[in-house]
Amino acid sequence: MQQYLTSEIFDKKMIKYSTVRKKLNLEIEKTENLGLAHLTHYFQNHINGVSQCYKVPAHNYYSEITEELNILAEPQMALQQLLPLKYDVPFPPLADYEFTFIDLFAGIGGFRIPMQETKGKCVFTSEFNYWAQKTYEHNFGEVPFGDITKLNLDIVPKHDVLTAGFPCQPFSISGKMKGFEDTRGTLIYNVFQIIEKHNPKVVLLENVKHLINHNKGNTFKTILKGLKELGYKTSWKVLNASDFGVPQNRERVIIIGHRDIEFDFSKLKTKPKRILKDFLDKNGPFEFLNEEYTILSDYKVQESGLVFIGHRNKSIRIAGVRPGTEHLSRVHKQPNRIYSSLGIHPTLPSQESSGRFYIYDEGEVRKLTINECYRIMGFPDKFVKTNNLAEAYRQIGNSVCVPMVKEISKQIKAQLL
Ligand SMILES: C[S@@+](CC[C@H](N)C(=O)[O-])C[C@H]1O[C@@H](n2cnc3c(N)ncnc32)[C@H](O)[C@@H]1O
Repeated sequence: MQQYLTSEIFDKKMIKYSTVRKKLNLEIEKTENLGLAHLTHYFQNHINGVSQCYKVPAHNYYSEITEELNILAEPQMALQQLLPLKYDVPFPPLADYEFTFIDLFAGIGGFRIPMQETKGKCVFTSEFNYWAQKTYEHNFGEVPFGDITKLNLDIVPKHDVLTAGFPCQPFSISGKMKGFEDTRGTLIYNVFQIIEKHNPKVVLLENVKHLINHNKGNTFKTILKGLKELGYKTSWKVLNASDFGVPQNRERVIIIGHRDIEFDFSKLKTKPKRILKDFLDKNGPFEFLNEEYTILSDYKVQESGLVFIGHRNKSIRIAGVRPGTEHLSRVHKQPNRIYSSLGIHPTLPSQESSGRFYIYDEGEVRKLTINECYRIMGFPDKFVKTNNLAEAYRQIGNSVCVPMVKEISKQIKAQLL
């Protein structure tokens, strides 16, 4: 049956985002779909100075699809008449904000939540993974632009802070350590191009701790050199999520650049360590470990706060293992290990799409639930997860600790903006 957006709906002030989205019954395309990205970015930015970046393509796309889908009642509704929209999403755009930012390699918005909480307005997003784009839209009411390597930089608006949790890639270093030019062909090069064009006041980069030693330290040096060439003073530090109020041992290197001021990491306020137990679901359903396992009688709290308390009784590997250490092969892989709920949890990795994170709680061994995974990353319970479980595990493992970014964002405001 043909559905129509009736003028009755349009006459009401403040149409809900979900209503418009339902009527514009369009799937996020798996190819480069700039139309929906333009349209949703325009919806969120139609009254600030940013709208010129999205207005024309958004209007063109809207007339194209409304004609194609024939969803409008007569007389045809101009795009302008939909505005302003009422955002019925967990993290609606801010009406009052104190700074602007862009969210590159946005994933599911681990940067966006805390930056919005500290009064930042997101004016541009890029993320090319279809599942992450869907989760992002459900939470923020905006479809990210896709592949950063294919972006026309003209659509990126001016902004105060650039955030990027970019994938780590090797550079083919020429030996001359040229910095910016040496990164050509990698994703950080695309980030540098945006920095060169827009000169944001602040650049905030995040990566795995290993980035520091990657390619004998050359990758990291090249990135810092590139930022220096672009005119930024940088400082960096490895931070651990467990120092910011969540029970997860997750170390990440944070690089912050500003034109004149060196960010002072010592001003970040850390919190006492918490334990997993305080973050667990009260009621199940829980997936208990339905196979043999061993709980060690002799265990200790590691310096990091982890309590490795047992392991699944997987068969012992002999081949390729140093004699006398065969029993250790059982616990080499994280999915075989069991951690106590009285300690913290190891890093949630993005590769573990079946969620084999085993914990020992109340005398039983069970998997961490998907809600618990999001909680120990600091995502609020109102965050909407994808119902594709494997993707939900991947997405959280790829993301960033929300309270850690919130503290960084507060200090960026205090020190650099
Ligand atoms: C380490 S994750 C960052 C996750 C994010 N910080 C979050 O909170 O969820 C890197 C992200 O970059 C995305 N990505 C990789 N290459 C990309 C590209 N060429 N264009 C846009 N996004 C890309 C991946 O899909 C992934 O979601």
